[in-house]
Amino acid sequence: MHAVEVIHSKRDGHRLTDEQIDWVVAAHTRGDVADEQMAALAMAILLNGMDAGEIARWTQAMIDSGEVLSFGDVGRPLVDKHSTGGVGDKITLPLAPLVAACGAAVPQLSGRGLGHTGGTLDKLEAIPGWRACLTQEEIATQLADVGAVVCATTPTLAPADRKLYALRDVTGTVESIPLIASSIMSKKIAEGTDGLVLDVKVGSGAFMKTPERARELAETMVAIGSAHGLATTALLTDMSVPLGRAVGNALEVAEAVEVLRGGGPADVVELTVALAREMLALAGITGVDPAQVLASGQAYEVWERMIAAQGGDPSAPLPTASHVEELVAERSGVLARLDAYAVGVAGWRLGAGRARKEDAVQAAAGVRLLVDVGAEVEAGQPLLELHTDTPQAVDGARAALAGGVVISDEPAARPPLLMDAIRP
Ligand code: URA
Repeated sequence: MHAVEVIHSKRDGHRLTDEQIDWVVAAHTRGDVADEQMAALAMAILLNGMDAGEIARWTQAMIDSGEVLSFGDVGRPLVDKHSTGGVGDKITLPLAPLVAACGAAVPQLSGRGLGHTGGTLDKLEAIPGWRACLTQEEIATQLADVGAVVCATTPTLAPADRKLYALRDVTGTVESIPLIASSIMSKKIAEGTDGLVLDVKVGSGAFMKTPERARELAETMVAIGSAHGLATTALLTDMSVPLGRAVGNALEVAEAVEVLRGGGPADVVELTVALAREMLALAGITGVDPAQVLASGQAYEVWERMIAAQGGDPSAPLPTASHVEELVAERSGVLARLDAYAVGVAGWRLGAGRARKEDAVQAAAGVRLLVDVGAEVEAGQPLLELHTDTPQAVDGARAALAGGVVISDEPAARPPLLMDAIRP
């Protein structure tokens, strides 16, 4: 087999054979196919696509590049959630303990943030002492004892994806739906969960800017799940406005704790409960209302145990920024737009996110939203707080927000959060 022949084949619009797919993914992982050849193939796939059979095989080849995790019998059904990423998306934090409190086990292997979207591990690392890296045995023990684990993926999970994703990132080939879908699903299938709920975000702050693209991604991932015997459901949810009122690592942890204590912003509660319902349905758990469990404080108890099991102190004060500035309304009217991408970039520039994988993040940096879309505001009223330990970053954050915060004379409302559900 030659890499150039595989590239020619996809470049000329043909279907890749199972043998071509198995060979090229394995050979690139071993280093026998060069990065520039794999980049050319990724571009050919981006331009000419792959059919459902090719995508399922590509996903399997990436799973086979590493280890499929097994946690043994933890005494409860395993069910996981994956979000395609958004601004203020801290949902994993209340969701994992909530679903555990309802009787399932949640092995949530997560990543770090890159660009304007935050990473779950970065958020949890704002908690003093909390540790992201666990062994497979530690994960299994925690799943059996606590029912919920949020930790770093192991290096043995789909190594082909790690190598290919890094290459796609620098060659303009991230936006291919077959490649995104197989990348996400290979890691989730290799994680060994029994059920998976996907939160596919739509809007300016998301990967997928339009409902059509988001639906196509969701349907592709649900089909991969079915082809691999993994029960998978997807929700399409709005990401044109940030989720909740906090964007940034420690700020988001504080908001998640409010939700776990029965309070917090209505949109964060709504999405947490909607995803929990889907996860419990996949786990076959009936007769438990996650809204009631959240309100009762039981999920908060699981949160405390989940954090403590990974060395964190759930009662320790969270870090706070040394510098906080307000952004005020330039005129009176209705807050018509609070653009998720603009707020995400502002948080990133303040220090909450990273531009390169090697960069450190500031635990306390970020943006607090003081007013909801649709509310009336007065000229001079504070709309946002900008938090940072590097005050020189504030000008860049304000520039990112220009045009993203719009006050109008017309009534406005936040778009509906739950847009659609895709089931097999
Ligand atoms: N997240 C992933 O894990 N893979 C992609 O290709 C895109 C987003």
